[in-house]
Amino acid sequence: MRIVRTVSDMRAAVRAVRAEGASIGLVPTMGAFHEGHLSLMRRAREASDVVVVSLFVNPTQFGANEDLGSYPRDEARDAALAEEAGADILFAPPVSEMYPAGFATTIHVSGITDVLCGAHRGPHHFDGVATVVAKLLSIVTPDVAFFGQKDAQQVLVVRRLVRDLDLPVRIEACPIVREPDGLAMSSRNVYLDAPARAQATALNRALTAAEDLAARGERDGAVLLAAARSVLADAGIEPEYLELRDAEHLRPLVRVDRDALLAVAARVGAARLIDNRILKGE
Ligand code: PAJ
Repeated sequence: MRIVRTVSDMRAAVRAVRAEGASIGLVPTMGAFHEGHLSLMRRAREASDVVVVSLFVNPTQFGANEDLGSYPRDEARDAALAEEAGADILFAPPVSEMYPAGFATTIHVSGITDVLCGAHRGPHHFDGVATVVAKLLSIVTPDVAFFGQKDAQQVLVVRRLVRDLDLPVRIEACPIVREPDGLAMSSRNVYLDAPARAQATALNRALTAAEDLAARGERDGAVLLAAARSVLADAGIEPEYLELRDAEHLRPLVRVDRDALLAVAARVGAARLIDNRILKGE
């Protein structure tokens, strides 16, 4: 596996790959790899000739009071894990390479970014995501880019961006990878001490409670949300949000009469955690 630091070296590597007629899969990440990230890389390995993993802790998607400074970083460990998972190139540019002096462009996807994490983390977050993902897609020109369903709203933002800018890439969303007790894997789980780690399992259990009701035919959003909320309350968690929205446009949904996104965010101990479930609308 090669480590590439500059945009021009990355473009040269892409030209060499294209000259051989090979396909490229891209897995954008911010590092601190866990099985969730590695599952995307393995999927990319299956689906592409050349796998590029980008590792860039993108400053523009963090708010002023968020964890940019303390975000876990260990490039040597990440490089070894990415290589093992089948990456051919690790694109790990410094901040000055992605945002050189004078950088002045922001990509804003409107509508779907006004709700859920967009409402609670502020507009900067998805602007930062959309801008850096657009840059990565432009630099690497993958045939397919792989994202985790763990960040369900991010997947929708990226799909919108790709459609609106006519970017020639297919976006593939991959399933959420969980710990044995159901907690969705996250780089931020390292912030959890033992009591918070135990408490954090309530997020998935809350989603499961609603999902079980829906599977038994319950369609009333208020009933489903109440079931989830009660699991959270029993664990002493007051969610930042717990919402049911249509899975495509993120419009509020009163009844699950089409595919619904049930999404939760909560502060648990020192971490802000998110999780979600798609409830099938038949
Ligand atoms: P990061 O949080 O490092 O996540 C990189 C990718 O891994 C994302 O597509 C995310 O959804 C996926 N992922 C994280 N946890 C997962 C899990 N438990 N199961 C499956 N997939 C999981 O998301 C970002 O970075 C950034 O916003 C980025 C897209 C790289 C732009 O900076």
